[in-house]
Parts: sequence; C-alpha cells; structure tokens
Amino acid sequence: PRPILLTRHGESQDNVRARIGGDSSLSDTGELYAKKLANFVEKRLKPERAASIWTSTLHRSISTANHIVGFPKVQWRALDEINAGACDGMTYLEIKMDMPEEYESREKDKLRYRYPRGESYLDVIQRLEPVIIELERQRAPVVVISHQAVLRALYAYFADRPLKEIPHIEVPLHTIIEIQMGVTGVQEKRYKLMD
Ligand code: F6P
Repeated sequence: PRPILLTRHGESQDNVRARIGGDSSLSDTGELYAKKLANFVEKRLKPERAASIWTSTLHRSISTANHIVGFPKVQWRALDEINAGACDGMTYLEIKMDMPEEYESREKDKLRYRYPRGESYLDVIQRLEPVIIELERQRAPVVVISHQAVLRALYAYFADRPLKEIPHIEVPLHTIIEIQMGVTGVQEKRYKLMD
C-alpha cells in the first residue's frame, strides 16, 4: 500500500488576521510547521524513493514545502484555495456586515454558494478531477500541501464522504491526514504535529 499525505499549508499571515483567500506568506508558527513537516516526511517516506510533493501555486503552500528536500515538487493550479472572488481578503465578519445577503446565501447552502466572481465548493470539486485522476494513477506516495476547501474535497473523495458534508469536514492546520489505499480499502491516520 502507498500512502497519500494530505496537509494544509502552515499558518499564514492571513490566517492570523482571519482573512480569507489572498496570497500571504507563512507566520512564524507556519514556518515552524514547515520544518516539522519536512522532518516527518523525511522519516515517513525515506525508503520510498519515487515519492513526490504536490503544492498549489500560492506562496503559503509552496513555502510549506520549502524544507522538504530530495523529492520532486509539482505545482498545481487546481490545488489553489477556493476563489472567494469579491470577498477575497475579507474576514467572515466583514462579509456579514458589508454583504449580508452573500453571507446568508452561503450559510444556507455552502456547497452550492458561489462567491461573486469566484467559486463554489462544487466548482472546486470539479476542477480537482484531473488531480484525483493523477493521484489514483500514482504508484508512489504523494504529499499534497494545499488548502482547507480543496482538502475537504480531496479527503471526501478518498474517505467516501457524501457531497453535502464536504464544506463542513474538519481539516485543521498543522495536521497530516494519511490515507492508505490498500487492497482491503482505505485506511486513515491523523498526525497532529503542533497545536
Ligand atoms: O480561512 C482559510 C481558508 O483557506 C480561506 O482562504 C478559504 O476561503 C476558507 O478557508 C475556506 O473555508 P470555508 O469554506 O469554511 O470558508
């Protein structure tokens, strides 16, 4: 069996300020996670030579892979975070105050809600199709360093969770979700590297 390791990027400057979207860099805490992750990946995958590291094209994801050496890295635009369009860079509170109808619609149907000039969860799920096909095709382990909404969708695919649950699945920061695809089905382990 070969593992797929799913993780969010380390804490970013925007995470600290509770702003969604953006392309900020890692906070000091996020930097520390990047180091711990490299350590973990090296220990976990060392004998598995053909492993690869997949990131999004956003700074916080690429920087989280920075300390991992000895494995090829691939950047996928399809792994970028859900595009919050007109709400990019705002906090949830700002959206609630300034765009209450948008906030309401998202509360009502988070799966189908599409940000103005942005994406919905359904859009994200659709654009992930080539990533999933490629992940299925890989024989070697893959470490996927991506973002909350994207990882909810990827995780739901492998863990066989229903569509309507996807926007609510817990994918905390600084935690590695290991998925093993074996002959007997899919097994999951979570490693919390930091609080
Ligand atoms: O807050 C971090 C983040 O990755 C945002 O960039 C993104 O908009 C959000 O999480 C997605 O989570 P939710 O769908 O719960 O708003």
